[in-house]
Amino acid sequence: MSPRYTALVASLPATVPFVGPETAERERGAPFIARLGANENGFGPSPRVIEAMRQAAGEQWKYGDAQSHDLKQALAQKHGVSPDNIIIGEGIDGLLGYLVRLVVEPGDAVVTSEGAYPTFNYHVAGFGGVLHKVPYRDDHEDPAALMDKAREMQAKLVYLANPDNPMGTWHDAATLEAALERVPEGTLFVLDEAYVDFAPDGTAPRIDARDERVIRFRTFSKAYGLAGARVGYAIAAKGLVAAFDKVRNHFGMNRAAQIGALAALEDAAYLQDITNKVAAARDRIARIAADNGLSALPSATNFVTIDCGADGDFARRVLAETVKRGVFIRMPFVAPQDRCIRVSTGPEAELDAFARVLPEALAAARAPGQVGTGG
Ligand SMILES: Cc1ncc(COP(=O)(O)O)c(C=O)c1O
Repeated sequence: MSPRYTALVASLPATVPFVGPETAERERGAPFIARLGANENGFGPSPRVIEAMRQAAGEQWKYGDAQSHDLKQALAQKHGVSPDNIIIGEGIDGLLGYLVRLVVEPGDAVVTSEGAYPTFNYHVAGFGGVLHKVPYRDDHEDPAALMDKAREMQAKLVYLANPDNPMGTWHDAATLEAALERVPEGTLFVLDEAYVDFAPDGTAPRIDARDERVIRFRTFSKAYGLAGARVGYAIAAKGLVAAFDKVRNHFGMNRAAQIGALAALEDAAYLQDITNKVAAARDRIARIAADNGLSALPSATNFVTIDCGADGDFARRVLAETVKRGVFIRMPFVAPQDRCIRVSTGPEAELDAFARVLPEALAAARAPGQVGTGG
């Protein structure tokens, strides 16, 4: 006999936001030769971070600091805010779940963009919220339309990622500051800045940490190369930060990860080196696209979205043929963005593999039904 699930859980589909690369490797029966699909940082964390975590390994018998005190102090200093304005959690994904739990009851309206980051939607569905979506405009999320929809639906939350995943596009600080002025009464603006470290100066809006209309999320998963460590944080008004303490998993933070994140913050030179490498890798991916007659969208992230020049079915074939040849990439889920594939930046050897495989994948995608070459 199965447990007596809540009506909400019983109604949920058995879907996950993303199928992980390891799952895909098990399904294909072989490891990938290039891992360019999950917007991880293939250049890895700073050697100083690795050393700090190595030293912490022997202390893993201890729980982590439930308040992440030292990391919180360092982040407060970095952002020029009070530690009371910072909540640390198990990646942005974990914190998004807590946030939704804090404010969304079954039936509550939540607004996002059609085809935007699906993990947020997954949490909203998991707490019974009702998603309302606005289309992208010219491959960008549309801040004004999002705010209008939030007003129309009296939404509890309105979500926007800047820069955006999956398109890699972005808005400047002034546009975001204008959007903030349009947040309707009773709505909380959820600003996801997972990729902002890769964006041009002037992308992050100036927001007073005490502003109760907004919560902004950052992560160590991307620029700091610590996706597997699961460390993210949010900056928000003191009351909202305190509310997380009512629901969060108090000992949810991995001790070595806390220590690694702190060491990462202290290595500014490495961060600069990574952002340079990512920018060079973005250029290389754009060149690979151009060599194959495709165009890359401008990106302020650690990935490049490539327009395959036809419809979603064609891009899905390009993706399948690329993955079949051992190069893990992903693509946007919904039209019209699904005319594209999405390729994460990474070290030269991985991009070499992508450059080698893409022409074959395109040829196979253009001749559906025929068996492609390559292994
Ligand atoms: C827009 C966006 N937000 C959040 C995340 C996840 O961040 P974290 O690893 O901190 O959970 C990602 C990862 O791909 C992302 O693309």
